[in-house]
Amino acid sequence: MRILALETSCDDTAAAIVEDGRWVLASVVESQNALHAQYGGILPELAARFHVEAINRVVEQALQQANLSLDAVDRFAATLGPGLIGSLLVGATTAKTLAWLQNKPFVGVHHLLGHVASVLLDDSRVEPPFLALLVSGGHTQLLAVESTRHWRLVGQTLDDAVGEAYDKVARLLGLPYPGGPLLDKVAQQGDFSRYTLPIARTQQPWDFSFSGLKTAMARLVERETQTHGGKALPAAVVADLAASFQHTVAETLVRKTVACAQAMGYSQLALCGGVSANSALRMRFLALANDGFSVAIPPMAYCMDNAAMIGAAAFWFPSVLAGQLDVFSRGVAVLPVDTVLSSADDREG
Ligand code: KG4
Ligand code: ZN
Repeated sequence: MRILALETSCDDTAAAIVEDGRWVLASVVESQNALHAQYGGILPELAARFHVEAINRVVEQALQQANLSLDAVDRFAATLGPGLIGSLLVGATTAKTLAWLQNKPFVGVHHLLGHVASVLLDDSRVEPPFLALLVSGGHTQLLAVESTRHWRLVGQTLDDAVGEAYDKVARLLGLPYPGGPLLDKVAQQGDFSRYTLPIARTQQPWDFSFSGLKTAMARLVERETQTHGGKALPAAVVADLAASFQHTVAETLVRKTVACAQAMGYSQLALCGGVSANSALRMRFLALANDGFSVAIPPMAYCMDNAAMIGAAAFWFPSVLAGQLDVFSRGVAVLPVDTVLSSADDREG
């Protein structure tokens, strides 16, 4: 089963070809970082226009990389949401058109299930049931994945997503967009024990909150700036601030995940979403193997938004259609069996 998948939910134009939900025959990502960096964030209208220019190019590159023609593709998939609507439309319309032209099924994919499916790529040995910590720019969730048709949202952030907190704190520290990966780099040079930061308590034990931590960082930066006579902070101070923030985030995420896994009886853990590229978080999660957990983390290439994870999700979680995109509300989601939207259905609908 070869799936050609597209991902255009935010600011990356991506195409991939994935075989049997595991083997990545091709994966192409065109980043718009340079385009948006000058504005300090993503401009939705610009992002959509860039996707239109790039989408045919990435599809052709993916076919070339895999050395395949369109005829060799069995299904076409694209992210249907959540994301920027103008951006989503480009990938979804392109994949649906290709499916229609080739008379092959189209599969709509939930972006978050894409991140979850990224842990199933390559020679990953993990299979449900597992507890997934999903940490991205827009979401922070604990998902109990009991099977590919049955999962539960057991915890989520009450305010900022982890990636969002990273990007905002990076800006506070004067680091350019996109801040998360840079903050991670700077933190590796710093001393995390220099500042003590709060770990938020939440009413529901598996929920998260990062707005207090962000405010604490803002106060620290203000205090340090005053101490340094209102001038730009020395690199060593920035590194220590970054390291303290990074340590507190990793500590919060790991503690909650472990407590939740123990309470619910999960021995398999998965870390996914853009922030799973974070060095401290990866290290802390991998070390959990010493505590009897088996841990799955996607390879770096499949942490940030990419289309390989969408191709995997289209294989493993094929039942999510446009009308069912609210499957991530709190509670149990049981999906109907085999409701892949075929190109024929699409024509009638
Ligand atoms: O999953 P993703 O690519 O896009 C969304 O679906 O949101 O995640 C992007 C987020 C951004 O907030 C980015 O700053 C963050 O992931 N991120 C990181 C790192 N790499 C990416 N945050 C911390 N450390 C990193 N190494
Ligand atoms: Zn994402």
